[in-house]
Amino acid sequence: MQKKLLVTSALPYANGSIHLGHLVEFIQTDIFVRFQKHIGNTCVYIGADDTHGTPIMLSAQKQGITPEALIEKTHGEHFHDLTAFGIEFDHYYTTHSEENRVLSEFIYTEAQKKGAISDKEIEQFFCTHCAIFLPDRFIRGTCPHCKAPDQYGDACEKCSSTYSPEELGDPQCSQCQHSPVLKKSQHYFFKLSQFGEQIQTWLNQDTVKPEVKNKLQEWFTQGLREWDISRDAPYFGFKIPGTADKYFYVWMDAPVGYIASTLHWCKQTGADFESIWKSPDYEIHHFIGKDILYFHTLFWPAMLMVSGFNLPTKVNVHGFLTVNGEKMSKSRGTFINAKTYSDHLNPELLRYYFASKLTSSVEDLDFNIDDFVFKVNADVVNKVVNIGSRLGAIVTKKLSGKLTQPDPAGEHLLVQLSKAIPAIHKAYFELEYAHAMRHIMGLADQANVFIDTQAPWNLAKTDPPLAAAVCTTGLNALRLIIGLLKPVCPHLAKGVEGFLNCDTIQWENLTHWLTDHAIMPYEHLAQRVDVTHAKAVLKS
Ligand code: MSP
Ligand code: ZN
Repeated sequence: MQKKLLVTSALPYANGSIHLGHLVEFIQTDIFVRFQKHIGNTCVYIGADDTHGTPIMLSAQKQGITPEALIEKTHGEHFHDLTAFGIEFDHYYTTHSEENRVLSEFIYTEAQKKGAISDKEIEQFFCTHCAIFLPDRFIRGTCPHCKAPDQYGDACEKCSSTYSPEELGDPQCSQCQHSPVLKKSQHYFFKLSQFGEQIQTWLNQDTVKPEVKNKLQEWFTQGLREWDISRDAPYFGFKIPGTADKYFYVWMDAPVGYIASTLHWCKQTGADFESIWKSPDYEIHHFIGKDILYFHTLFWPAMLMVSGFNLPTKVNVHGFLTVNGEKMSKSRGTFINAKTYSDHLNPELLRYYFASKLTSSVEDLDFNIDDFVFKVNADVVNKVVNIGSRLGAIVTKKLSGKLTQPDPAGEHLLVQLSKAIPAIHKAYFELEYAHAMRHIMGLADQANVFIDTQAPWNLAKTDPPLAAAVCTTGLNALRLIIGLLKPVCPHLAKGVEGFLNCDTIQWENLTHWLTDHAIMPYEHLAQRVDVTHAKAVLKS
């Protein structure tokens, strides 16, 4: 039966460039979306930039531009970078939109009506010099536990302890180095604990993996605390209705951006919004990193519950990307922006590399440059593309450019290869991409063994009809393999479709073999990567 899905990736902040870490998530999501479309499901892929908050406001100030100008510039860059990596959104919007303002206000007022909002006066660090309340990340001081100097207001990078900013020794504003003062202000809170049981029930519906659920249990055991959803002016965001100078905290309106982006897409395309966010027609699948789990599995479902929207069917959580075994770091030259990579290397190869490492678990994954070069050359170039370049040349130069019929041995091979289709389907569906890639490369190995044994380059001289039969088998194997790989390497797949002169490969026509069929002359599909060349992404 055909399914309908709405799929999202987390909304990247509008004050930084897309980097390889973000791409883990976008590529993981995009493969899932393309797979769903490939097998014939309706799948809408929604994204947006996350545009609000103090860091964005200050970053604009530093550049001497308005926050609106900053987020507009970044939106263009983000979209451009993502497109270069084949990330194909149905809609890529912004949280700074009228739709998002209206929806955020709606959710807030519904929460208010249901008694889920409280307010109280709290004390926070305020920088009189900058005239702003300081978010934890904008306060530096001495760690209360290990006494390391120059640590953030919420956690120590030396001893990994967490604390509140008032516990820091000698606190300073990280913008101007002045000492902040404690200042009182009225704040609004979302009463998360009211939804504890409902959230537990939702989590028990196979929404997250068991390992993630265990992690969440720790939070339930500690007790759900009230969530501070307001910030004082000056702040770049949406004003809270009924207040003079309070704004929604960026994490309040950011996930609402998923709904707002959908709504904008519906307005543009005429699609039915209610059927997506308010009826059982659609499943909602979020993809997020492990660092933002709390927001997506506690606050977000509670906000949806209080306002009558659908709850996510799945929250898929991935781990963090390291580069050559360590956290990405600007000073070590391992902080790789998407654009730096795409200036030097083929984006499709990164898609393959990440796919070959991604599983459904939250474990971290590593981008190791030597391993990357070895893997993409061995798999994509030597195993897959090579089938096309070797056989294509024979067919066009020696066999009048036409496929014929496989011989019995070839037919047997194609039947054998096709038997893997259901397992690969399952692996994609369950986000076990690494498994799917291993399986597909196993098929390519079998095809290559067949080709090597038959040696059609020799047969072309001695037995041209048999040579044609072998090439027909080999190129049909290539078509099957590239069809299975299509969610990961869509561009390469397109190239193969052009070369084989065939219809768009889809899951349902994977085994519609091409026989008595003219192909096009082979043109380069992907080039080997050279290590020294690849290392350029580390330096720039
Ligand atoms: N703006 C919030 C998300 C709001 S969603 C309603 C945010 N933005 S982010 O730009 O910091 O991160 C966006 C996504 O990229 C998150 O899911 C995050 O986990 C992921 N990653 C950021 N750095 C990453 C790595 N180094 N590795 C893997 N994923 C990483 O959080
Ligand atoms: Zn300051």
